Amino acid sequence: MDQLAGKVAVITGGGSGLGLALARKLAAEGMALVLADIDEAALAEAAASLPTEVLTARTDVTDYEDLAALATASLERFDRVNLLCNNAGIAAFGGVLEMELAEYRWVMDVDFWGVLHGIKAFLPHLLEHGDGHILNTASVSGFLTQPGLSAYNAAKFGVVALSESLVYELEILESQIGVSVLAPAWVKTRIFDTDRYEQAAASSGKIGERVVPAMRAFAEQGRLTADDVAERTVAGIKEGRFYIFPHKGILKFVGHRHADISEMRNPSVEQGL
Ligand SMILES: NC(=O)c1ccc[n+]([C@@H]2O[C@H](COP(=O)([O-])OP(=O)(O)OC[C@H]3O[C@@H](n4cnc5c(N)ncnc54)[C@H](O)[C@@H]3O)[C@@H](O)[C@H]2O)c1
Repeated sequence: MDQLAGKVAVITGGGSGLGLALARKLAAEGMALVLADIDEAALAEAAASLPTEVLTARTDVTDYEDLAALATASLERFDRVNLLCNNAGIAAFGGVLEMELAEYRWVMDVDFWGVLHGIKAFLPHLLEHGDGHILNTASVSGFLTQPGLSAYNAAKFGVVALSESLVYELEILESQIGVSVLAPAWVKTRIFDTDRYEQAAASSGKIGERVVPAMRAFAEQGRLTADDVAERTVAGIKEGRFYIFPHKGILKFVGHRHADISEMRNPSVEQGL
């Protein structure tokens, strides 16, 4: 989708971090926006800061009915949706034995099911309208695994798999709808600020204690800001790129993993931990 001006984008998790940065960039491109988030105060603040027409809607992506209502409200307000950004996501950290099952379910509910709910709610309209694009936010964690991140890895690998399947299916359906999967490395946002979610448990234990500070440090020291990621993401959408890796340096590690697989070597932890 190379022309964005005058079109409409929906962004889940649009109240903070990468979603809000994407909103700023898409507003600057001349798009009208629908921002969806569980955090209503963040939504109001975001809408007031954006130089475009914005509809906000309190939406919990773990609930399909909320996404269906969001699609209805978006179409009532703007008549069409051209770009769906399934961005809302959370992270939980800790070893497999250190994390509660409930926390695993929460990660899968938001990070995997949230994306599927968005696709199910909006794809029928995109197919009918014919001009559209879906951006699914995975992560580098959808391509590389790390200790202490198994729930997030599983959810984000799921988002990559779902997105790849979708792109093949749209080809079979001879649809012009584009799909991109966004895979940033750690970026400074509120993603580590997990205390604000009632579902999050404090990670404790040897694995969590070792990996969480390292991941926080990656995010703190990362060279790209959320706005840089948004800039590269929008460039990728315009180019019709499926895989969008804003941090090019990480592709070396993705290549190592793929080489381990193709040569049937055991996995090795070498992503700086
Ligand atoms: N920040 C990073 O380092 C990084 C790296 C790779 C991928 N990502 C992904 O980017 C996306 C955005 O994360 P971020 O870093 O901007 O984090 P963030 O915490 O700053 O923003 C996430 C937003 O999602 C909202 N949200 C949380 N649960 C929700 C739910 N159930 N329904 C609707 N909204 C919900 C939050 O209220 C918040 O506004 C996520 O999918 C995340 O996994 C982030």
